[in-house]
Amino acid sequence: MAKLSVRDLDVNGKRVFMRVDYNVPMEEKDGAMAINDATRIRETLPTVRLLLGKGARLVLAAHLGRPDGKREPTMSLKPVAEKLGELLGQPVAFCDETVGEKAEAAVAALQNGQALVLENVRFHAEEEANDPVFSARLARLADVYVNDAFGAAHRAHASTSGVARIVRAWGGKCAAGLLMERELKFLGDELEKPARPFVVILGGAKVSDKIKVIDRLLDKADTVLVGGAMAYTFRLAHGGKTGKSLVEKDHTGTALSAESKAKAKGVGFHLPVDTVVATPVATGKLNKKGRMIFDLQNPRVVEGDIPDDAEGFDIGPKTAAAYEAVIAGAKTVLWNGPMGMFEDERFAAGTIGVAKALVAATKLGAKSIIGGGDSVKAIHKAGLGDQVTFMSTGGGASLEFLEGVALPGVTALDEV
Ligand code: 3PG
Repeated sequence: MAKLSVRDLDVNGKRVFMRVDYNVPMEEKDGAMAINDATRIRETLPTVRLLLGKGARLVLAAHLGRPDGKREPTMSLKPVAEKLGELLGQPVAFCDETVGEKAEAAVAALQNGQALVLENVRFHAEEEANDPVFSARLARLADVYVNDAFGAAHRAHASTSGVARIVRAWGGKCAAGLLMERELKFLGDELEKPARPFVVILGGAKVSDKIKVIDRLLDKADTVLVGGAMAYTFRLAHGGKTGKSLVEKDHTGTALSAESKAKAKGVGFHLPVDTVVATPVATGKLNKKGRMIFDLQNPRVVEGDIPDDAEGFDIGPKTAAAYEAVIAGAKTVLWNGPMGMFEDERFAAGTIGVAKALVAATKLGAKSIIGGGDSVKAIHKAGLGDQVTFMSTGGGASLEFLEGVALPGVTALDEV
């Protein structure tokens, strides 16, 4: 069932409470918090502009980080409000409260076509508890509710779920924003009946993280390409050697059953035939988390088994070439999870090769969909971000949605 669209709302003069995912990476620079990547802010601009253009009084609510119900100055949304104003080309107000008299007064001061960002909803423990009283306090700032925060839609929190229930009970509408619509279209509808061949590329560290996605997509895909550290668990499951590579010993059965399901369904299931490995040597130094830092020495390509002293960090060149050839023939490609530790240049070739193959296929008319998280970072690192069909802004939310989970932030919206 389709969700009510922000396009179909009459918002002139109304207070529109919009949940956005402004959980952007930040770091401290010269004593102030600076935004490292504003993609999530930029991606909401179409909805923000649409609403302001229709005369809405726009109240933006978001979380930043995990402050656990306490006010944490490094997690304030003030720099985000400033960035939004800069990108929008008009001032955006900021209120250093989320609910209560001060927030209500700030919202009451808005004119038609003006926007305001509220302070981090997670400074209140009631947000994550989806507390009905807190939801009602948020709802006091709203005539209409819009959710454009796909990235937070897997959370049943007050600002993603509880507030919508109350706005609706008070007679207001609850609609999906334009970004939310695009996410649901590309990660949902487009993959429901994909143009074929439909190729799914899965990487990342753990089979256990991806198994539900594999399971669900085996019903739709023509070919699955596996990379990343999760491939080593498959190697182990087949009795191969994995050296010091990251493996999930408890999930070898999971890996084998995914492969047999693929076989039974006639889905091509490809595992790496070669690996870029290195020898990890302890430096005696600890990182910020107190974990040993290893020097990754002697990077080299091995075929088949991984030697006892070595650890796998990327798919090898033969695998990359084979995967690139499969991607070249695809009409729909979904990619979730890098092929290796692409942050290190020595282990980036497999991931960058896949990214380039995806772009080439897109130029030939394929739809390329990047399922969020690290694959998005990899595409950006390769400088190819604008050359794929769609990149999700979700991390955990994309994964859950691809697993077929009904997301609370989506179910909370009106149906049409
Ligand atoms: C994300 O960054 O994936 C979303 O903003 C959700 O954040 P959370 O995992 O802290 O709920």
